[in-house]
Amino acid sequence: MESDFDRIIDRRRTNAVATDGFRDYLLGGEEIVLPCPDADAIAMWVADMAFASVPAAIDAIRQRIAHPIFGYSVLVDDDLFDAFAAWCARHYGWVPLREHFLTSPGIVPALFDLVEYILENDEKVLTLSPAYSPFELAATRVGRQLVTCGLRESGDGHYTVDFADLEKKLSDPKVRLFFLCHPHNPSGRVWENDELRAMAEMCFAHGVVVVSDEIHCDLRRSGLTHTPLAKLFPESDQIITCMSSSKTFNLAGLGIANVIIPNDEIRDIWKDRNFPSVNPISVAAATGAFRNGDGWLAELRTYLDTNFELVRDTLAEQLPDAVFRIPEATYLAWVDLSAYFSADVDLTRFFAERCGVLVEGGEKFIADAEGHVRINLACPRSVVDDALAKIVTATLGRTIATD
Ligand SMILES: Cc1ncc(COP(=O)(O)O)c(C=O)c1O
Repeated sequence: MESDFDRIIDRRRTNAVATDGFRDYLLGGEEIVLPCPDADAIAMWVADMAFASVPAAIDAIRQRIAHPIFGYSVLVDDDLFDAFAAWCARHYGWVPLREHFLTSPGIVPALFDLVEYILENDEKVLTLSPAYSPFELAATRVGRQLVTCGLRESGDGHYTVDFADLEKKLSDPKVRLFFLCHPHNPSGRVWENDELRAMAEMCFAHGVVVVSDEIHCDLRRSGLTHTPLAKLFPESDQIITCMSSSKTFNLAGLGIANVIIPNDEIRDIWKDRNFPSVNPISVAAATGAFRNGDGWLAELRTYLDTNFELVRDTLAEQLPDAVFRIPEATYLAWVDLSAYFSADVDLTRFFAERCGVLVEGGEKFIADAEGHVRINLACPRSVVDDALAKIVTATLGRTIATD
């Protein structure tokens, strides 16, 4: 075993958003009283892991800091690209071109940039909802509008695309950019090739550029595969692919992501407006992780599979009216608790106040998410167990109280 996923690591006083920043970043600075000291709250919200980062990255960082200069750095050599391309070849049978490969301090910063580079002032971004909230911010922070196309939910937690609505929304000539989240956060869907082809072809037919945010692609349940959207359209330059070592290997604080831009014009704008500096420690970590992180990732997947089974079994037994399906990817459980709560309950606040468990309620996911919570399961099993017991008790307490 390369890692001990059962180990509880104290993250406090490391500036971790999950544990040290939750009052501002989850609870919006409101004076919410928890039933425990803040230090004892269980953080299962922001999408990073309570596990140690991949040893391959830590080893690579150690090697890099053995050299004592951390001056201005740009990607001059091909090491990061080669490690990433080899990773993509091994895992996806797809290799991006070196000349299309760029880095960004994160995928969210990349989305922010791309909205500005691609859209005129009155143009719009489209995405599938529920959706990761920075998708909205990427549009609205620069005065563009986000349009959503609600996913269909079949009653058992399985989400599919409403293609009729997608076509309708794409027909708005002001919609020029589609943010595809593949795999999808928060539902965990890994879109199938037929779904991907249909979505992309509709976008192309309407002259809409696709940004395929594939940050969760490596975090699939064991045995499942992922197809990068761009692999299905090797001739197209209308798909921008975002991938990252940050989510896969728990390196988000290092601030580096990979952005593949095949379109010459968009890439030229990016290069003109983006200063190409990189953090040399982050480059080393990402390179090391892509080179040598396969074994650790396989172990992580097995561990997460079991965490998801624990959630499925516990909910089936103790909250039988909850709708939950083990997601195809991500370490995020997306649970429909609408049988237990009316749509106006702020579930983030409810679980924080009632049981000190920090999860993200549906109100954090732009639209079509009432009554849901997203629970981050990338934490030791004993923590999942403890949190589940608290969530169940709080939910049943609520039902009894309102009955
Ligand atoms: C769909 C999606 N995109 C992007 C990000 C964040 O990317 P980054 O940390 O590289 O900015 C997340 C993190 O949760 C995410 O879920």
